[in-house]
Amino acid sequence: MELVVKPDADAVGEVVADMIIALVARRPDAVIGLATGSTPLPTYRALAAAVGEGRASFADVRFVMLDEYVGLPEGHPESYRTVLEREALRPLGVTGDRLIGPTLSLPPEEIGPRYEERLAALGGVDLQLLGIGSDGHIGFNEPTSSLASRTRWKTLTQQTRDDNARFFDDPADVPRHVITQGLGTIGECGHAVLVATGAAKAEALTAAVEGPVSAACPASVLQFHPHVTVVADDAAAAGLQGLDYYRFTLANKPAWQPF
Ligand code: GLP
Repeated sequence: MELVVKPDADAVGEVVADMIIALVARRPDAVIGLATGSTPLPTYRALAAAVGEGRASFADVRFVMLDEYVGLPEGHPESYRTVLEREALRPLGVTGDRLIGPTLSLPPEEIGPRYEERLAALGGVDLQLLGIGSDGHIGFNEPTSSLASRTRWKTLTQQTRDDNARFFDDPADVPRHVITQGLGTIGECGHAVLVATGAAKAEALTAAVEGPVSAACPASVLQFHPHVTVVADDAAAAGLQGLDYYRFTLANKPAWQPF
């Protein structure tokens, strides 16, 4: 894993945005996996600024969803499709039809396999943005998820429902079920970019980066991925035992370079 540590969430967003801009410059029709939650918002703002300044264009990029709630009415402001259209795509001048996601109208057992087919038809995901849950989940792969899992229905843990309650008027409104790319599915992306900011993520990030690979911390499966960049702020990186070593390594690099 490559680890980049920055002082704060905005600086993290700039680094992640630079990686995405570099990818799209190389491959204008890249397939980019978007994530929801608060963590990627500074990245989306930095991307929008780059578009505004004429430094990037996302006109030909194909976007895909990492996960989605099940059971919210279509167009609900907290459905992940609506969130991504509002927070990520519209500021980039991209319309919602360029965001490919699971087809929720299908019978539940067909949603995952059909979405996998669509991802495969795109030729796979070039870069997948990932946040991390306070319990170490990525996407909505909660602890105990199979490390080889594919896209499927999941039931959320109470901790994740509590964590996500801030987005809903009433905590009881947080859906119980979701569709998520599996850990095996995520593992097939070309470049996984795991973003973590804030002290509340320190424990999960330490387990993911330095702990044993285990379904107890689903993000730890990324240790098997051949191309992962972890971008964290000081607060989220604070628990890493190897931080001095990483800092030394980074200090001796002229600048972050795309792979
Ligand atoms: C949700 C999403 C995850 C996200 C996590 C963390 O559970 N399904 O993809 O990483 O929240 O969110 P936040 O960035 O708001 O802490």
